[in-house]
Amino acid sequence: MAHTRTQPATLAPEALGPVTPEEAVLLKKLDLARLPRHIAVIMDGNGRWAQKRHLLRAAGHRAGTQSARTTIETCARLHVEALTLYAFSVENWRRPKAEIEFLMQLLRDYLRKEMPLLQRNNVRMRFLGRPEELPAGVQKDTREATEETARNTGMVLSIALNYGGRAEIVDAMNAILMERNGHGGTQPVTEELLARHLYTAELPDPDLLIRTSGEMRVSNFLLWQIAYAEIFVTETLWPDFNRARLLEALLDFQKRERRYGGIDSERGAAARAAR
Ligand code: FPP
Repeated sequence: MAHTRTQPATLAPEALGPVTPEEAVLLKKLDLARLPRHIAVIMDGNGRWAQKRHLLRAAGHRAGTQSARTTIETCARLHVEALTLYAFSVENWRRPKAEIEFLMQLLRDYLRKEMPLLQRNNVRMRFLGRPEELPAGVQKDTREATEETARNTGMVLSIALNYGGRAEIVDAMNAILMERNGHGGTQPVTEELLARHLYTAELPDPDLLIRTSGEMRVSNFLLWQIAYAEIFVTETLWPDFNRARLLEALLDFQKRERRYGGIDSERGAAARAAR
């Protein structure tokens, strides 16, 4: 499994356009050839951001869409292969009806408004979760956004919507059972077979999982796929998560030593020499 990839030779720091002095310093330290292939984000803290400003929670969600925009555009321009944003979980139906309706409308408005940005950046969209349980209008808009961007060849942007990690594994198993129904297949289910039936089939597993607002939880997000992901938790609330904060997360990722259950090369060499 390759977890970082060589960036195209054409990728230059200028790809981001004008940058602030803070971003320029961070960009200089960043190795653009060793970026994560897939970044997953738990966008948390919209409510607290609003509360701190004596605003309604809705204002926090609205401000959160700007962070989503910045994150999507930056990752696309850095040629990250896949970005997955956790927008609405299967547990989020427990929120007040008015907030759920607001979030659904916000997403619909977002898709309409941001379509030019997605097209300009060659982004291909997909949605992860159980679409059949979403309001009809949301199903229509998400289907259209998927179709309109299907021919794009750049970053795959996945929006987890009515998503649950356990539900995803159950859905994958049921899809396998359905396929086998009548064929009497008794072959054991392998990890590869199960992975091919997840909502994320064809995507590399996330190398980096970012969670904003300081909570140390994975909240039923991509449970199967984050097996070896590096986890970056920041106290920054999602609406304050700007491009500099994203670059910091990428820099932190590049400091990690990834061993996938093995041992690192230096210690590996020492261990081999001692044998
Ligand atoms: C968590 O804040 C955030 C969400 C429930 C997800 C909604 C995200 C957005 C609206 C950002 C825009 C994204 C897209 C794809 C349009 P919270 O309400 O749980 O915050 P709290 O923990 O502080 O209450």
